[in-house]
Amino acid sequence: MDFLEIEGGCKLNGNVTISGAKNSALAVIAATILSDKEVTLTNLPNVVDIRTLLKLLTMLGAKVEHNDTVAKIDCSTISSTRAVYEIVAQMRASILVLGPLLSRFKHCEVSLPGGCAIGQRPIDLHIKAVEVLGAEVTLEQGYVVAKAENGLKGNKIMFDKITVGGTENALMAAAMADGVTEIVNAAKEPEIVQLSEMLNMGGAKVEGIGTGRLKVHGTNGKPLDFSEPVEIIPDRIEAGTYLCVGAITNSEITLDKVNVEHIQTSIEKLEAMGCEFDIKNDSVTIKPVAELKGVNIVTTEYPGFPTDMQAQFMAVATLASEDSLIEERLFENRFMHVSELNRLGADIWLKGNVAAVRPVKELIGAEVMATDLRASSALVIAALAAKGTTKIRRIYHLDRGYDRLEEKLSNIGAKIVRKKS
Ligand code: EPZ
Repeated sequence: MDFLEIEGGCKLNGNVTISGAKNSALAVIAATILSDKEVTLTNLPNVVDIRTLLKLLTMLGAKVEHNDTVAKIDCSTISSTRAVYEIVAQMRASILVLGPLLSRFKHCEVSLPGGCAIGQRPIDLHIKAVEVLGAEVTLEQGYVVAKAENGLKGNKIMFDKITVGGTENALMAAAMADGVTEIVNAAKEPEIVQLSEMLNMGGAKVEGIGTGRLKVHGTNGKPLDFSEPVEIIPDRIEAGTYLCVGAITNSEITLDKVNVEHIQTSIEKLEAMGCEFDIKNDSVTIKPVAELKGVNIVTTEYPGFPTDMQAQFMAVATLASEDSLIEERLFENRFMHVSELNRLGADIWLKGNVAAVRPVKELIGAEVMATDLRASSALVIAALAAKGTTKIRRIYHLDRGYDRLEEKLSNIGAKIVRKKS
């Protein structure tokens, strides 16, 4: 099993080019199912989750040409609508094929995603959304079996809880439905905006883009035509992660190819901790800061503070000069990184879904274990500031969502190598 070995304490300096957003790319890839023509996607991140979803599309019969950041996907040849457990268990976002398969083929079987380290992560809201559009859904031997013999019909979907994946499945199901669908209390993440704009380009008119109230004019069974290439938006979580690297190592790092608006809350929280920035239209430079102040964070849906940045900020807060309080409101078990950070000498206490981070003078390198994608990046951040050597095991979690992390960090002076045990 690979592990990362990091020599901490180095000041870093230089530029990091931000890759395409994994969580936007996954929804965009799923949406190609709605077309019977070849679609070109560019600026894809080179990460495991993208390769996994492309593999699923191939297993369904689609033709996929993929090299590094570009994929050409032709779903005219899809011959199966069964997303098997072996793939879905590897990546729960495979559930995003439910809406488009049902909308285009009127039936599908998608394995229930397995559990996940950060929480139970049910898909009841996804199922409710397609049932509102007329699908009959049953659970059979661990599979969601959905049918809509006469096609889906536009209707009003009310989400009593904001769900990113649920909104994405609702959008894609509505795209080829007969009539207009209203989605109330929709997620507003940038990936929802990108997906909505893609569906618009493909011929399913989407109104209210960027708001919590979306209206989709379905094509009534006519496949969409994504005639223009879709360029994946920059990854706001990768960008926020590298800003945290700069903050904890007291370095000057410039991020290129970012969307500044998408990382506003991360910038503002780091400013509250004493960091300063130079911001240009698509690049951000974090300046060295000698002392970090404490921070109070409550995770919430976009445009609030993202849950996907919670672990990374906790790592930075371990070396602040004051107490920090971090409340995780979206997932019931997203503090797996706490015990690992404490192994590095942090002083973090948990009470329910609130973590109290108390200042320590330094972190000391140790052997730690990654538990989920964002927890792994928090351990990298802490290791870069810890005295001595840190070994991070189970870094397959990291490879799911960070594109060439060691290379990007080495290029700005980090001492980080991937080794085999
Ligand atoms: C997406 O997951 C992201 N994944 C997650 O990023 C991110 O943490 C999450 O949104 C929240 O921003 C992808 O986009 C692939 P949700 P998703 O549905 O869609 C509950 C990462 O690190 N819920 O918005 O699964 C759910 O349990 C990953 O890149 C239901 O109760 O998240 C959670 O408490 C981790 N029923 C809350 O809603 C449902 O049917 C938000 O989940 C669906 C969700």
